[in-house]
Formats: sequence, structure tokens, C-alpha cells
Amino acid sequence: MWSASASVGAQNDGAAQAPSSFQVRARKIEDRPGDAKYILESLALGTSARSFSGMPHPEFPNLTVLDHPLIRHKLTILRDKNTTTRDFKQLVNEIATLMAYEVTKDLPVEPVDVDTPLERMRGVRVAGKKLALVPILRAGLGMVEGIAQLIPSARVGHIGIYREHDTLEPVDYYFKIPSGEEARDFFVLDPMLATGGSAVDAVGALKHAGAQRIRFLSLVAAPEGVRRMLDAHPDVPIFAAALDRELDANGYILPGLGDAGDRLFGTR
Ligand code: PRP
Ligand code: URA
Repeated sequence: MWSASASVGAQNDGAAQAPSSFQVRARKIEDRPGDAKYILESLALGTSARSFSGMPHPEFPNLTVLDHPLIRHKLTILRDKNTTTRDFKQLVNEIATLMAYEVTKDLPVEPVDVDTPLERMRGVRVAGKKLALVPILRAGLGMVEGIAQLIPSARVGHIGIYREHDTLEPVDYYFKIPSGEEARDFFVLDPMLATGGSAVDAVGALKHAGAQRIRFLSLVAAPEGVRRMLDAHPDVPIFAAALDRELDANGYILPGLGDAGDRLFGTR
């Protein structure tokens, strides 16, 4: 296993210093040779492989950094200050789609019969109530379509929060989510997890409304925000495309990608 004291920080594309999922798989097989057959079968079937990719970050048990090469590649272009608004929008959606694939891999399924052109067989469908995507306005909106491409039946709620410029404290201005909160999976979307104030506030509001199963998806996270979420909502897993180094004096993520809302909507 890799060292639990691996430092938090940006490396080229800003990803944390955890091994790749491929390395993790290889080492797991080395560590437990008796399990190798099971692991290889699982990978081939694409079924129970989830404990060998998307491992929790060594310093933050609530964080999983999704380090797929395509995510890292697209995120690097996203960070580029010369990337246009049009490309920025498209890349945010594409990364969100790739993240959705990983983030949904443990959703429960139930059996369902289907008639192929040749015979009846037993397949599966995702069980339970339709899940809810909840973007934090504004920048979270940029992730909705990318995820809805994989999960078109998802419901969409909205939480309006902005950071007050001087204090960096979150200010709420809108809240509307689908009913059936207790039985639904909620995916809170926001490209940036900086101080964590907005995320903690949004998740608190969802819980207050009755939500019990919440995941938080962001593109770039700062250690400060991940820690604040761990303290306030240790039950909420965070999935990020990268864990960056730190916040600057104005609460911006370094190296980050700037102001996500402004870059997404062409404001400023
Ligand atoms: C950005 C971002 C997050 C928040 C993160 O929104 O989209 O919601 O900042 O910062 P925090 O972790 O320190 O709370 P912003 O306040 O700029 O609002 P906007 O998207 O409406 O511009
Ligand atoms: N919000 C952003 O849009 N970017 C940051 O770096 C921090 C907060």
C-alpha cells in the first residue's frame, strides 16, 4: 500500500499523490495473491471491482479523487486561462459525465425480466427512487447536463448560494428540491470546493429537508474545504477530479482554475 503520509498537493494537473487505480489494483493483487482470481474475474465482469478503483484519499477518508486519464487531461485544459467560455462549458460537462460513471458504480440494482428478440432473460435495473442532481448555483449548473446524459431520468433540484465577497461566508438565496427526500440519492454538484462554506451550507440544508443519502461532486477541491466537510458532514462522500494545494488570501484555490461561475457564463 502507498504511504498514509503522502503529502497533499498539486502535481502538474493538480491531482493528489495517490497511486493510479491501475497501481492500486496491481498492488492489491500482490498483497493478497489468494484473492487474485476473484479480483481478475471481477474486473473482467465489471462487477465487484469498485474497491480497487477510486480509493478514498489517504489523508481524507471522505474524499475520492477520480484520476482517470481522460479526466486529468480534460481538467488540465479547463485550468488553462486561455480556454474559451464555449470550451470551458463543454469540458465541465464532459468531466461531469466521466465522474458520474464512477460515482454511480455502487448504486443498488434489482432484477428485471426482459424479452430479447430471441428469448426472455433476467437483467437488472437501478433500484429505488430516481436520484436527484442538485447543482449549487451558479457554477454547479455546468455539471447537470453531463450527468443527465448518463442518467436522463434524474430529477434536478437547485440550491442558490454565493460567497460573500469579504467574509467568504455563504449567503443562501434559493432552495428547491424534488420530494421524497428520505428515499432518494442526492448528488450535490459544484465545480469548486474552496473554504467549504457553500458545500457545508448546501448539505446542511438538504439534510434539514430530510435527505439522508448525499454525495458531493466537485471538479477541484482544496484541502481546507475537504477538511471542513469532514468535520461538519463526515457521512457525505466527496468525489473530486483533483485535490489542489491550498487557498490564497482571497479564498481562491491554487493552482485552481479561477472563478468557475465567471468562466462558465462569460461574466466579468
Ligand atoms: C463559487 C463556487 C462555489 C463556491 C466555493 O461560487 O461555485 O459555490 O464559490 O467556495 P467556498 O467553498 O469557499 O464556499 P460563487 O460564490 O462564486 O457563486 P457564483 O457561482 O454564483 O458566482
Ligand atoms: N470559487 C471559485 O469559483 N473558484 C475558486 O477558486 C474558489 C471559489
